[in-house]
Formats: sequence, structure tokens, C-alpha cells
Amino acid sequence: MKKIIILLSVFCVGCKTQSVMVKPTGLVVDKAMVVSAREEASKIGVEIMNKGGNAFDAMVATELALAVAYPYAGNLGGGGFMVYRKANGETGTLDYREKAPLAATKDMFLDDKGNVIKGKSTTTALAIGIPGTIAGVFEVHKKLGSLPIEEILKPVIELAERGVIVTNKQEKRLNEYRNELIKINGVNSLLSTVFKENDTIKYPALAATLRRISKNGRDEFYKGETAKILVQYLQEKGAIITMEDLAKYEAKWRTPLTFKYKDLKIISMPPPSSGGICLAQIFKMIAPYDLEKMGHNSSKSIQVIVEAERRAYADRSYFLGDPDFVKIPLKALMADDYLKQRMANFNFDKATLSSDIKEGNVNYNESTETTHYSIVDQFGNAIAATTTLNAGYGSKYYCDALGFFLNNEMDDFSTKPGEPNMFGLVGNEANSIAPQKRMLSSMTPTIVEKNEKLFMVVGSPGGSTIITSVLQTILNVYEYSLSMQEAVNAPRFHHQWLPDLITFEPNTFDTKTFDILKSKGYKINEKTTPVIGKVDAILVLPNQTLEGGADFRGDDKAVGF
Ligand code: DON
Repeated sequence: MKKIIILLSVFCVGCKTQSVMVKPTGLVVDKAMVVSAREEASKIGVEIMNKGGNAFDAMVATELALAVAYPYAGNLGGGGFMVYRKANGETGTLDYREKAPLAATKDMFLDDKGNVIKGKSTTTALAIGIPGTIAGVFEVHKKLGSLPIEEILKPVIELAERGVIVTNKQEKRLNEYRNELIKINGVNSLLSTVFKENDTIKYPALAATLRRISKNGRDEFYKGETAKILVQYLQEKGAIITMEDLAKYEAKWRTPLTFKYKDLKIISMPPPSSGGICLAQIFKMIAPYDLEKMGHNSSKSIQVIVEAERRAYADRSYFLGDPDFVKIPLKALMADDYLKQRMANFNFDKATLSSDIKEGNVNYNESTETTHYSIVDQFGNAIAATTTLNAGYGSKYYCDALGFFLNNEMDDFSTKPGEPNMFGLVGNEANSIAPQKRMLSSMTPTIVEKNEKLFMVVGSPGGSTIITSVLQTILNVYEYSLSMQEAVNAPRFHHQWLPDLITFEPNTFDTKTFDILKSKGYKINEKTTPVIGKVDAILVLPNQTLEGGADFRGDDKAVGF
């Protein structure tokens, strides 16, 4: 036996033998956990598991409870991605991303001269993609759920009726967005009202919608009364979504994108998310470097990670889009030789210039307007799910009759080659608009295995910064020996090829580190963002208990038993 262990450790170069157990600093529970953006949603997910439901039942409950408790990003009018790993090791992903309506056209956001019309893909009703969330949760339930849907939705409907208490952060967000919400929805719309911390917001219209969905199933949203009310509302507002668009919508099971990093196996979302493929490229490019020795958030570690990010995001812009519409050279992009050659021109003395990789010049802002939750159940099943309306409160269009916001996901398409979207991401033909096509995403729900066992469940909001937030959280635990909660809390940085800047969370990094990086030609940006990502993760500790990492940047909360 001893011999086998020695042999294994000789062959597994660079593998971690976690000899010292890192002290957990987040919530630790024995069996089951949900970490999400709101305590109410985490609690409902856990309640479902407590009743004997599995992680998939809990997913349905948590996703819809977020639509009630966290309308900023939780949704019925948006979409998302889910990655799962069953206790027996089987893995899969579900794509419930929004789609472009049948009447969408490639140039729909351009003027006669071919220039992008500012705001048309973000704040008009044309920005709305066909919602996928209800199709998504029902698909999960049909394939993998165990409790009746009515039982799962009951606490969610009760929450909408009882109401949700406004947190301090929520009050601030509502204040920040109120003028925009009033402009679109008028003063009488539910969230146009001034709400203060500790007030309770009740959602009776949403409760009624959910009750109909609970009774009539998925088709209520796509073909039934809800569909009719929704399409009438959308058409009044100038959207192009029709009953046919809703009826045609399907969520899609996709093969996970998996790859190895040392002795970790990382299971993530394939296109139409760029998350998994970019994560794979970055991990493979940094693998030859000894990050642990370089130190957490040291200038050298930052350089290696940034240079890999720069190269991955350049590829993202050119190659990635909806795989149902474009051919993506996934194998070639993930090939070890290709990625080795990609990093060949990097050295520690001097920053590579993004303009030397490909030209461009753009601006962007990061934010946290999507939401991610992680679940592990008492049977050992795990779920990472990220769901979004795109911007905060999506397109801001709130259908008062149904009680939910509509997304502005059309902005995730490349409206024109080389033209940045709201996250400063540039794209090309591969991500151009076409009827029924899904827009490219950065959402990166991810599950990590170590020694063939469940190790971590992780994900984040943050637009283009999602991928780099997930990357750093995994590295923080695996390379830098932080606890799950510390890994989530640790200050983050981000590079996305264009603009050619390293963005840091303000006032969290050493100025000496900045001086070193500047001397090598890196441009430092601490201005455009208060936070990068908002990670909710679960780590399986060596003794099989679960540690939650709930991001302090939001109201996020780990709950479990
Ligand atoms: O799918 C995407 O990549 C974006 N729609 C996600 C938006 C997001 O994370 C907003 N929060 N910052």
C-alpha cells in the first residue's frame, strides 16, 4: 500500500497532498448546503432537502426563490446555465440561456450608416431575449427531480405572498435604479415605490404567476395564460417576441466542458457560455508556473494569471458563439501545444501588449447583476447554477401583471464586429445576431473534483469578470491554501485582453505590487469597479463536511444541515 502511495505521488507532478487541513472560516455543516445571494432563497433550498428532496429539487426552489427575494438578478424573465455532478460521478449541464426572437436580425441595433445605436441593445424592449428560466427548472425537475413540483414551489409562493425584507444593500440598489425603473414602468409599478431597509415587499402578482405555473406546468409560461399576458405586454412595449417564440423555446442538455488542472478535474459550462473554455485555457496556460511559491496575489502570480487571461479573452472574442450556429474549434483551443505556444512570448520582465495580440480599444464596467448559487445535498449530488437578467433588473421592463422583470440579454451578442458590449467585451461573426440563436455568455457555473471525488462547487456573477473570479477562487483554495470563505473574500483582479488594463478591487492590493507591475508596463485600473464578482461556493473538507463561502460583497448566505 505504501509503495502505491509513493508511486502515485511521484507520477502526479505538481499535485497537492493537502497534508495540513486548512481551518474552515465559513459555515460548516455535515450533509447539505445552499449558498446563494439571499438567505431566504438558501433557506428554501435547504428546507426542500430537509424534506427529503435532492439537490435538483432544491435547485428549482432556490432558482425561483431568488426570482422573489433577489429581483435584481433572480428571475423568471431571464435565463441561465446549470452544471451538475451526481453522487455516482455522472455529470451534465443544462443550457436555459435566452434566445434571439424569430424576428431578430443581424443589424437590428445599427443605424443606416451601420453604427451601433447607443442603448438600443440594453434599455429598449428589443433588448429582451426569449426567457429560458421556467423551461430550465422544469427540465431539471423532469429528468432529475424527486419531489412533486407543487411541494417544491409551495414555500416559494408563500415567500412571494408573505414578502421579503429589504436589506441595506437592496435599499441602495433600488435607490440607484429608481429613476430608470420609473422612466420605463411609470410611478405605479411595484419597484418604482420607495422602499427602505427593513420594509417588507410583497409580490402578489408574482405569487399568482407562480401558482398558475405550479398548477399547469411549464407550458403555462410558454403557451398558457401567462404567455398571452407576457406577449401582449411585450408587444405594447415594442418588443418583437411572439407566442411562436415562446412556444418554440427549449432548454438544452449539453455535454460538460471538462479538463484537468494538476490533480483536479474541472467540470464547467460549454458554449454558448465562454466560461468553461476560457477557464480551461487559462488553467492550462498557468499550469507550468509554480503559483504557490510565487505567493497569493504577488506581482509574479498576478503577471502569470493576467497574461493567460489576456490570451484567452482574445480567443473568446474571435472564436466563440452559439455552437448550434457556429463551429467552434474547442479541441484546438484547449490543446496543450497550442496553449504552450500561446504563452511562449511571455516573460516576467515586461507585459505583453494586447495590441500585439490583436488590436482594439474599449471601455467597460464590472458589476454583479447576475446571480450564482451552489448546492450540495445529503446524497452527495452537487449543482452549480448561474442565472441572469444581464444588467441589474435586466432591461428594467417590469411586467406588473405577472410580477417579474425581463432581461436585456440581446446585448450579449456582438451587435457589430469589434464593438464592445456593456462589459467591454468585443465579439465577431461567431457571436452575431440570428433568429433563435443564443448569445455568448461568460457565466461559469463550475464543479471541481479531486481524486475523483467532489471537491468544490463554485460560480459568480460579474459579466466578463465571472471567469476570472471563478479561476481565482479555485486557485485560492488549491494553490494558496485558503479556506473556502477566505478564498471567496480575498481581493480579486481581472484582465480581459481589451481594454489592456488589470482591474483591481480598489484599496485591497499593496501599492508596492502596483509599482512592480507598472515598471513592467502593466496598466493598473482601480477606478471602474467597486467589486469583481460575487462568488458563492461550497468546499468538501477532508472529513467530508461542507464549508460554505458566501460572498460578503453582497447579502449572500450559506445555509445547511
Ligand atoms: O451571460 C453573461 O455573461 C452576462 N449576461 C452576465 C451578466 C452579469 O454577470 C451581470 N453582472 N454583472
